[in-house]
Amino acid sequence: MARLNPITEEQRSIQREFFRLDEDTMDRVRHLKPRLMKYAERALEGVFDHLVGNPEVAHYFEISENITYLRAGMIAHCDRLFSCRFDDAYYEATDQMGERHSKLEYHSHVYTAAYTNMLTRIIELAAEDRRKFSPEDLVALTRITLYDMELTVGAFFSHKMEKREALDHDAVKIQHLLTGT
Ligand code: HEM
Repeated sequence: MARLNPITEEQRSIQREFFRLDEDTMDRVRHLKPRLMKYAERALEGVFDHLVGNPEVAHYFEISENITYLRAGMIAHCDRLFSCRFDDAYYEATDQMGERHSKLEYHSHVYTAAYTNMLTRIIELAAEDRRKFSPEDLVALTRITLYDMELTVGAFFSHKMEKREALDHDAVKIQHLLTGT
C-alpha cells in the first residue's frame, strides 16, 4: 500500500541536505559504485551467516530459496542506493521495503543490525583492498547508508502505525454496531 501522506520533493531535498548528502557526496558514491557493489556482494555472505545464527530469525534463513530471493532484493537495493538517483523510484522502493519488513513479526533491530553489519563489512573489505578508501569516501558511504536506513526504518514504523490506526478504527466501528451508539 502506498503511504497515505507521501512527502514532497522539496521536503525530500531538505531531508537530504540535513544528512549532508550534497552533490560532492553523491558524485563520490556514484564513482565508487562498482567497488561498492563488489564489496556488498561479499559482505552479504557474512550478513546471512549472522542472521542464521540468530534464533529470532534463523527459521526464515534455513530455507535456501529464501536466501536466494532476499539476496537478489538486497543487491538490487544496493544498486539503487549507490546510484544516488533519489527519484520517485528510489523513495517508493524504500517505502515498500519498510512495508514488507513491517508485515513480518521481527523487531526493527534485526534490520538495523543487518545495515550495521553490511556497512562495517564493506569498510573492512575496502581496507583490505589494494586501493584504500579515503576518509571522504568513508564519510560519503556512511552518510548514504544511514540515510537509507532512516528511510526504510521510518517506513517500517509508519506502516506499523497505519495498521494500528486502521485496527483501532475498526474496533470503534464494531463497538458502535454492537452497542447501537
Ligand atoms: C540491509 C538490510 C536489508 C535490506 C537492504 C533489505 C531489503 C529488502 C528488499 C529490497 C526486500 C523486497 C524484495 C523484493 O521483493 O523485491 C526485502 C524483503 C524482505 N526482507 Fe529484507 N532487507 C534487509 C534486511 C532484512 C533482514 C535482516 C531480514 C530478516 C528477517 C529481512 C527479511 C526480509 C523478508 C522476509 C522479505 C520478504 C517479505 C515478503 O516477501 O513479504 N530483510 N528486503
